[in-house]
Amino acid sequence: MRKLLKTKSVIVAGLLCTSSLVHAEEVEVLHWWTSGGEAAALNVLKDDLSGQGIGWTDMPVAGGGGEQAMTVLRARVTAGNAPTAVQALGFDIQDWAAQGALADLNDVAAQEGWDEVVPDALKAFAKHDGKWVSAPVNVHSTNWVWANKAVLDANGIAPPTSWDEFVAAVETLKGAGVTPIAHGGQAWQDATIFDAVVMSTLGPDGYKAAFIDLDEEVLGGEAMKEAFDRMAFIRDNVDENFSGRDWNLATAMVINGEAGFQMMGDWAKGEFLNAGKVPGQDFLCFRFPGTAEQVTFNADQFMMFDQGGSVSEEQAALASAILSPSFQSAFNVVKGSVPARTDVSDADFDDCGKQGMKDLAAAAASGNLFGSMAHGHAAPASVKNAVYDVVTAHFNGEYDSETAVTELVDAVSIAK
Ligand code: GAL
Repeated sequence: MRKLLKTKSVIVAGLLCTSSLVHAEEVEVLHWWTSGGEAAALNVLKDDLSGQGIGWTDMPVAGGGGEQAMTVLRARVTAGNAPTAVQALGFDIQDWAAQGALADLNDVAAQEGWDEVVPDALKAFAKHDGKWVSAPVNVHSTNWVWANKAVLDANGIAPPTSWDEFVAAVETLKGAGVTPIAHGGQAWQDATIFDAVVMSTLGPDGYKAAFIDLDEEVLGGEAMKEAFDRMAFIRDNVDENFSGRDWNLATAMVINGEAGFQMMGDWAKGEFLNAGKVPGQDFLCFRFPGTAEQVTFNADQFMMFDQGGSVSEEQAALASAILSPSFQSAFNVVKGSVPARTDVSDADFDDCGKQGMKDLAAAAASGNLFGSMAHGHAAPASVKNAVYDVVTAHFNGEYDSETAVTELVDAVSIAK
């Protein structure tokens, strides 16, 4: 407890130091959007702010899923040099809010009616103790498959709708000498696939019990062992150079026809668009087999760090720009995500984007919308990282499925 108090006092002291900074007409933003598609989407925000006379000091920290970015953030805050705004996910936002580190955005939220248009699933992470503490940018989802249409057509493969159909499609591609699955061997990417495999194998009730309720019976049950067996099948059907590959380079393999499928969140769509590809013509997007009714989501948000007791003009302008309907459409069309507001037209979105918006609304209405474990929306970071460790150890062959299940129960029970 003493250590925690010391840490907290260091953080709070650090934040107070930032108040001495002179407010320039600019924002410094820490984020991890460094791929081609991500950078293209970020430029929409930079241009939007520039149009309002607000400059942008970029603080990119490469590393998909944001682990590295969060490490740099902790160092910056402890040193008393918090950025103006930080890209963050779900439970990480709540952690910073609980430490009193975030500014109160209630005034801009009230002026612009955020409570009426932002869905409850996002408000659960964007608000803390009744205060808005971050500005939601989008809603991504992780249970997608991206496919090269020409590769599937050449092999007579239709988008698989069940695990068995997926296995058959993978075996057809393997037989044809095509890499069935493009993948980057990094823990967060292994876990992103695991989101969908658990949803597909255990169903929505099982996913919720395992990843949101952290039910040890379910985490250690037969169905979870089957999920790990399915991860082993996926492992056997990636190329030999998968280890350490960045996610967008795996996407490029599908874009270029070097592989048939990639299981990845819909930020992958941004890479296809950035490469000039067209959904339904060059690539296909469909829900991971067996999860057509569900959505495992993660929303990118910008936390605004307290600048000495009040929101700075630049922070309010950034938050307002992020939630503006025009930006919500223009940004998400490029990013591959769907709007964080429920009142944005899908007119400018391509077919995958339209599908994503339709799926989100349907899943929210039918109780099939769940936070992504891999991307910080199912459980706190300590649990997420425990799942990462077990899933990636299994993917890399350190555990068989039986051992992985036992390790998962132990790791989660220690972490929660
Ligand atoms: C997710 C984030 C996306 C994208 C992805 C790959 O956590 O929500 O916007 O950045 O990581 O890095």
